[in-house]
Amino acid sequence: MSPTAAGHTDPRFIQSLLQSDHAFARVDDAPDPEFYATERMVAHLDATALETVEDVVGSLVTEEGPVILDLMASWDSHLPASLGASKVVGLGLNGPELEANSALTERVLKDVNADPTLPFEEETFDVVLNVVSVEYLTRPVHVFREVGRVLKPGGLFLVVFSNRWFPSKVVRVWEDASEEERIGLVEAYLREAGGFEIGELFVSMGLPRPADDRFHHLGFPSDPVFAVFAEKSGGPPDRPPRVLPRDRARIPMDREKVEARRKIVGETLACPHCGQKLSKWKVPDDPCIDWPNEFLYLCFNDACPFVVRGWRFLWEQGFPGASYRYLYNPETGASTTVPIRSLRDLKAGVVPEDT
Ligand SMILES: C[S@@+](CC[C@H](N)C(=O)[O-])C[C@H]1O[C@@H](n2cnc3c(N)ncnc32)[C@H](O)[C@@H]1O
Repeated sequence: MSPTAAGHTDPRFIQSLLQSDHAFARVDDAPDPEFYATERMVAHLDATALETVEDVVGSLVTEEGPVILDLMASWDSHLPASLGASKVVGLGLNGPELEANSALTERVLKDVNADPTLPFEEETFDVVLNVVSVEYLTRPVHVFREVGRVLKPGGLFLVVFSNRWFPSKVVRVWEDASEEERIGLVEAYLREAGGFEIGELFVSMGLPRPADDRFHHLGFPSDPVFAVFAEKSGGPPDRPPRVLPRDRARIPMDREKVEARRKIVGETLACPHCGQKLSKWKVPDDPCIDWPNEFLYLCFNDACPFVVRGWRFLWEQGFPGASYRYLYNPETGASTTVPIRSLRDLKAGVVPEDT
């Protein structure tokens, strides 16, 4: 296994969150089957984030013809067609949603908050998936322990989450935690349950939302995807490591390359990160910022890798919800960055091409 993802947050702080009064209370503490009796054939994430989830599942599930449990399942199990699962059991609370899920070969209706035991034999599954649902568990450690029981040694437990949920059903500790602390919570559940080896963390942030998404006009980037995975201890020692999709390649700095790049940008006025033509941009009339010229050049490609990586990079530095765009100053030939909080930011200053 790869090194543990622990260390994102101080475990003592996570423990204090877990021990807080009513950590697992919800606004709606009525039995879950009541809330989930209503059919919700909705996408819980935007299309880009859903593609990422499928990618993560496809990368981590390496077993041939795996036997899979989709724990807290609905109408979509996010399994790539290439997975070739031999059996997929969906356990959830809404019958019609499970019926609509064509990946499932078996369907089980069960409330794991009322009774966290999983109705399966020991060592039944190669893989247990839990997608955008861990935040509803009121007894997560019991459920995780059960996952460990029904997984085969070396089997994969993949927990994927984002930053959206049903507000009345989310547990308080999840809502109170920051995005980073939520990773720490899932790791704490795994450690507390015992018998797992925690793998590397996956985070995808800042990809542009699809143009036809209902929140596109607000300038929000795509929903973030956080994935924590673990293997049940005791797997075969020669098992190849599970490899996450790479989205965080960093390009090392090299002075000569930077100079060459600066020259090319001056000649082409194209973004060095994505190749898209830079836009002429009129600086805002803001007395608090001393802009060097009246016009600068910016990359406004929302899918530019520089912008996409920026959300994650700044999140890692403790500035969630921000990224930056590439900026070129034609007077000095200098490149720098401008911070943004939304993909819409700064666009008002774009000067139309023929002006
Ligand atoms: C946000 S949906 C996510 C569904 C699915 N995993 C997906 O990725 O689209 C949350 C799901 O958790 C299931 N769920 C919520 N509380 C549950 C509980 N106490 N026991 C079992 N399933 C539950 C519901 O049936 C619901 O479909």
